[in-house]
Amino acid sequence: MKTYLVTGAAGFIGANYIKYLLKNYPDVKIVVLDLLTYAGNLGTIAKDIDNDRCTFHRGNIGDRALVDSLFAEYKFDVVVNFAAESHVDRSIENPQLFLETNILGTQNLLDSARKAWVTGKDEQGYPTWREGVRYHQVSTDEVYGSLGDEGYFTEDTPLCPHSPYSASKTSADLFVMAYHDTFHMPVTITRCSNNYGPYHFPEKLIPLIIKNILEGKKLPVYGDGSNVRDWLYVEDHCKAIEMVVRNGRVGQVYNVGGHNEKKNIEIVRLTISTIHRLMTETPEYRKVLKKKELGADGQLSIDWINDSLITYVKDRLGHDQRYAIDPTKIKEELGWYPETTFEVGIVKTIEWYLNNQAWVEEVTSGDYQHYYERMYTGR
Ligand code: NAD
Ligand code: DAU
Repeated sequence: MKTYLVTGAAGFIGANYIKYLLKNYPDVKIVVLDLLTYAGNLGTIAKDIDNDRCTFHRGNIGDRALVDSLFAEYKFDVVVNFAAESHVDRSIENPQLFLETNILGTQNLLDSARKAWVTGKDEQGYPTWREGVRYHQVSTDEVYGSLGDEGYFTEDTPLCPHSPYSASKTSADLFVMAYHDTFHMPVTITRCSNNYGPYHFPEKLIPLIIKNILEGKKLPVYGDGSNVRDWLYVEDHCKAIEMVVRNGRVGQVYNVGGHNEKKNIEIVRLTISTIHRLMTETPEYRKVLKKKELGADGQLSIDWINDSLITYVKDRLGHDQRYAIDPTKIKEELGWYPETTFEVGIVKTIEWYLNNQAWVEEVTSGDYQHYYERMYTGR
């Protein structure tokens, strides 16, 4: 049995990861540490933490006394760090918080782990480490910057972040690697492309578009909609992380992506047409529509669910044009491959949102409306 400290697991990817671990890895016990910011929701993992294999602690990864006490209590074998401020637009509004959580928080975890895991020194003075321990950092393709029309990010692509968010994630990666090079700490890093799937907070493109369609609101597309993102179903990302935690080589970075590039405008159009199709095939789904307009047949109309909902808004500052991952290394070394095609994954995702409107309402019941209005109507 191994004990994992999983930070940020009340958020989108971390929650999917602990669900994936609990389902597929009976040899793992989990301790979740999450601050429950606007992006974290205890309800998302309520069923998972009600279990003797998974315990929850609310707190900040930057709180040294707390993190030290968790290491002392649970004797972690593995740390997987998801906790972060993750939204690029918010990093443009308030960079400072991104430095505190993403950089200082990561460095704090590294130091606590070092204190707990070092067993002595070798002849050259390097620390020696408890057998089997591993620190894993969940990073992003945004650390590489932006691509033109051609080419892919490999693990050797120079780091060139543009937003305060990606600059903070890059700094965190550099600290993780510095702890490996300086202290021989057993670390790994994964850099993944855009995830989509269940429990994605509706400030990010796909869940925001779904939410707005159901409410009959405009769909804000930044700039001309030509920016490209490389989409990966969240469970495929979780599988990749666990493969790297178990079998990845220490001190290595692995890029994770599914060769699934789409322009933003294509994503928005596809989401519109898929919701329209699902509601045509299964009229029962129309009951989640907040815009209630009756058609000639007396049923809730969906005629208005079309491309006229799209509105082009002011572009994101410093908006990266294109991301695209070359996942050759993780495929060849660890045998990882994405199981869910985009065609299947996007329908699964949209159906999940249609069936889980209570979750959407729960996570957007805080300061969401205020944020939404500021970002999308006030820019
Ligand atoms: P998210 O915003 O949905 O969740 C972040 C979680 O971290 C929340 O539960 C929040 O409460 C928690 N948190 C924030 N600050 C904290 C702190 N100081 N201490 C403890 N907990 C804190 O993020 P996500 O989309 O699930 O991303 C998870 C990780 O994956 C991030 O590190 C992000 O950079 C990385 N990543 C995300 C994507 C993506 O497409 N979403 C892609 C690649 C990498
Ligand atoms: O590439 C990985 C990254 O993907 C992660 O590191 C980040 O944590 C994650 O948030 C995501 O960043 P993006 O900025 O790519 O995701 P977002 O959903 O915010 O935006 C996706 C694209 O859609 C981007 O080009 C901006 C655009 N967009 C976004 C929103 C919210 C719009 O056109 N309209 C919108 O309303």
